[in-house]
Order: sequence, then structure tokens, then C-alpha cells
Amino acid sequence: MTRSSIRFVRRGRVVQVDDFAPRTTLLDWLRIEQRLVGTKEGCGEGDCGACTVVLGRERDGKLVYEPVNACILLLGQIDGAKLITVEDLAPGAASGSKELHPVQAALVARHGSQCGFCTPGIVMSLFALYHEGVRPVTREAACDALAGNLCRCTGYRPIIDAALDVCAEPAADGSDARADATLAMLRRLDDAQDVFVGDEDAFFAAPASEESLAALLAEHPEATLLGGATDVGLWLTKALAPLRKFIWLGRVHGLGDIHDSPEVLALGATVSHARALEPLAAIDPDIGEVMRRFGSNQVRASGTVGGNIANGSPIGDLAPMLIVLGAHLELRGGSERRTLPLENFFLAYRKQDRRKGEFIRSLLVPKPGPGDHVRVFKVTKRFDEDISSLLMAMRVTIQGERIVMARVAFGGMAATPKRALAVETALLEQPVNDGASWAAAGEALASDFAPLDDHRASAAYRLQVGKNLIVKALAEIAGAPSSATRIIGHRETAHAAE
Ligand SMILES: Cc1cc2nc3c(=O)[nH]c(=O)nc-3n(C[C@H](O)[C@H](O)[C@H](O)COP(=O)(O)OP(=O)(O)OC[C@H]3O[C@@H](n4cnc5c(N)ncnc54)[C@H](O)[C@@H]3O)c2cc1C
Ligand code: FES
Ligand code: FES
Repeated sequence: MTRSSIRFVRRGRVVQVDDFAPRTTLLDWLRIEQRLVGTKEGCGEGDCGACTVVLGRERDGKLVYEPVNACILLLGQIDGAKLITVEDLAPGAASGSKELHPVQAALVARHGSQCGFCTPGIVMSLFALYHEGVRPVTREAACDALAGNLCRCTGYRPIIDAALDVCAEPAADGSDARADATLAMLRRLDDAQDVFVGDEDAFFAAPASEESLAALLAEHPEATLLGGATDVGLWLTKALAPLRKFIWLGRVHGLGDIHDSPEVLALGATVSHARALEPLAAIDPDIGEVMRRFGSNQVRASGTVGGNIANGSPIGDLAPMLIVLGAHLELRGGSERRTLPLENFFLAYRKQDRRKGEFIRSLLVPKPGPGDHVRVFKVTKRFDEDISSLLMAMRVTIQGERIVMARVAFGGMAATPKRALAVETALLEQPVNDGASWAAAGEALASDFAPLDDHRASAAYRLQVGKNLIVKALAEIAGAPSSATRIIGHRETAHAAE
């Protein structure tokens, strides 16, 4: 069965939209078609958070609220969700009363809004934090929750103070009382039907099964697959790419599954970064730290692990980390499935080993074994919400005092995410606590890469920082406390002690 409309919940009612241009963003639909102009447009590329709205979805039997950037989310992607915009928060808004939502009241009390342009987005990010349910909320957690919201004039102190005030007590805005009813509505919307809005020439489709997806993709191999659209959204809003056919993977049954065993973590392609964070962090705290700094809450809520790999960016964060862990990629085209080592997927700049009609099903990530030591460092110009200038990941196996296996991979050094084979060779059979061999491994980096030279970082900078990161990782593995080698992300305070 195929449905030719999308359906979602707003203000306790089901909204059905059956006629929209496939490339319409949620923000344009809200502002231009619905005249809901509370949600603002700043950058139009997922960076500033002015357009933040919240989506409610069912996860593990519970209703969760996640902030997303409406400017780079396509309207069709809210199918099956509850949509909450800034207009929906104040309890008396519909009746003209001036009563504010607790988050709004806290911002007023703390003078957390000056020109007000960023405020609706900040309110929505704080609304999601308010409903996350974690208490107490630390200052660090409040900062993480706001990392995707820029404010140019108020200054963040009063905004963070408002966040801490309002999250000092459990959420009490009535949403929780209505959670069961909302969940029941969302379950009724989950009808396992394929969605196809448009015609053969231009459409937004959301197949419900892998079979439907494979068949649709075989028919339209030129269609653009959408995970979270945190990359594709920018092709539309910034590059004005003339795309007309979209296949969203968010409704495909099974593609969002996570299977975690003691040996392997299997992440379905549409698992969002927000959901992947915890199981990845459990593999190694450094991976958790990179995921904490991956975009923002908004980007992590929408962006998927499959999209990050499929996009093939030389500065994508997942690839180098998963390559050193020995991850494999599972692809499907028609009824045919194949699995390949992740490192073999990246052929050349933005050229991946993905055949016509194929899609990524899952990522299979082996867990480090006894004697394995992992280190990952992401280097950016800005701490929060910034793409890597370079990222180094290392896994070495130590037996006795010797390195018996070494895998080192970099993002941002070449046209693709890539292993540093000369560095690996230089490390093999070396004593782990020998500073001279650390330096020699660092020197070998020059044989592996003639680094990228662009606006993010010069080639010389990348090479020098790459060498330094190799030495830093080895010094830590040899026993130097990370409190001596790092400003943030100390491993001594993280859960996984070595
Ligand atoms: C503000 C901002 C900050 C960001 N920060 C980071 C960061 O810190 N680190 C980082 O690595 N990236 C970052 N990104 C980039 C982006 O968020 C990631 O690459 C993200 O993982 C893309 O996933 P997606 O699901 O949104 O991909 P989409 O945009 O949906 O798709 C990306 C590409 O993958 C294809 N695709 C998607 N799913 C599949 C599939 N299952 N099979 C085959 N092809 C598929 C699409 O057709 C498209 O070509 C950032 C982006 C923004 C806007
Ligand atoms: S308008 Fe800036 S993130 Fe959407
Ligand atoms: S209040 Fe002006 S940008 Fe934040």
C-alpha cells in the first residue's frame, strides 16, 4: 500500500499534507506557507540554530523530544513525528493569555534575550533539554545543549543561567501528562505504508521496507537518498542543486536498528548520531568525546551514521575512527547484499564504492580486544560545532612492552579518510615506551600524506599537528596521564579505565 501524503502531529491533532514541492524545507513550509514566523532563518545551513524546532518521536517505548534545524530538514522528513514550534509552547497562546512556558519565563527572569532573533531557537533547544529528564543539569550539559545556537548580542551567561534554573526541577509543563496520548497518536501514524508524494518526475518518497526501497531505487537510481539531510539540505539551500527526486530512509523498517554484542556493534544506516553516541562512547571514551563535538544536538538528532559514511567527505568524523576499529560496511542493491571493509569504500575524492541502485544497510564495528589501546583526537578551529581540520585515530595492540599491531587513520589529510600505512609500519614491534620510536613514527607521516591545503588549515600545519598527535597518543598509551596531555576530555575521569 502506498500513501500519497505525509502525516504528523501538531497541537494534539493529526496534520496531513498531500501536496508539496519535494524539496520544500520544513522552515519554508512553516514560514512561507503556514505564516508561522516565530521560527527564524539565520544561516540556512544548520549552524546558527535560529530555526530550531522540536520533533517528538517514540524511542524504546518512550516519547523523546529532539531539537532539529528546520532550515535543512525537508518537510517530508517529519512524517510520523510530533512537531513542536515556538508558537506551541506558551500554555495560553491560543486564548491570548500572557502566561509563558517555564523555559520562556526563565529566559525573561535572567534577561536572556536582547535583540531576540536567536531566542525562539534557544527556547526550543532548552525545551528539549528540559524534557530530557536528566537532573541535575550541569553547566557543561547546558553548554552542550546550546552548542548549536548562536547568540550575537545577549551573551551566553544569562542564557546558561536560565537553562540551569529551569532544569533545576523536573519538567512540569503538562507535556508528560499527555505523553501517553501522544504516543498512541504516533503509533497510529506508523502505518507501515510506503509514502510517495509527487510524480515520476519529481517526488518525495519514504519507503517503509527494504524491499520497497530497493525496488524504488532500481527504478530511479538517480534519486537522492536522504538520511538526515544534514549534508543534502545544504546542497539545496546553499548550492541550489536542481534535485527533484528524494528517497528518505527514515521510515525503512530495520534500518534504524542497533545491535550491541560484546564483540560487535552493528549500527543500522539510519541510526542518528544522537543514538549512536552512547554505544560508540562505550567502545572508547575518546570516540564519545568526538561524538559529543559532532555538530550540535540538532545535527546529531538528524544526521545519520550511514549518511556520514556515504557522503564520503575527507573530513567526515566517523570514518577514521571506525577504520581503525576494523569496521565493515554492509550494502544492498536489489536483492543482492555485500560487505566490504570500510577503508575500501573510499576510492577517491567524493568517489565511493557504491554501485548504481545500492544503499548502505549497516556498519559493523568490532570492539577492541584485550591489549588494544585506542586514541582519537579531533582538531578544529572552534571547539563546538565545527568540522575537523584533521582527525587522527589510532589503535595499537600491546603485548608485553611491544606494539604488535598498529592501525592509524586520518581525516583531513588526503582526498579520502585514509590509513597511515608508513606510520603503522614504523610502529610495529617497537617498544611502546620509547620516545625515539614515537618520533620516528611521526616522521613517517610525511611518506603517507601530502596533506590538503585549504581554508581550514595549511598543509604544513596539518602535517605538524598530525605528527604531534601521533606522539601524544603514544605518550598516553605508554602511561602519561591525559590530564598532562589534554585540556578537555580527560580519560582518567571517563568511564572506561584502561
Ligand atoms: C552544522 C553542521 C555541522 C556538522 N558537523 C559535522 C561534524 O562535526 N562532523 C562530521 O563528520 N560531519 C558534520 N556535519 C556533516 C553532516 O552532519 C554529517 O556528514 C552527517 O552524518 C550526514 O548524515 P545525514 O544522514 O544527514 O546525510 P544526508 O545529508 O541525508 O546524506 C548525505 C549523503 O549520503 C547519502 N546517503 C545517506 N544515507 C545513505 C545510505 N543509507 N545509503 C547510501 N547513501 C546514503 C545521500 O544520498 C547523500 O549523498 C555537519 C553538518 C552541519 C550542517
Ligand atoms: S537558519 Fe541557521 S541553523 Fe537553520
Ligand atoms: S538576543 Fe540577539 S542574537 Fe541572541
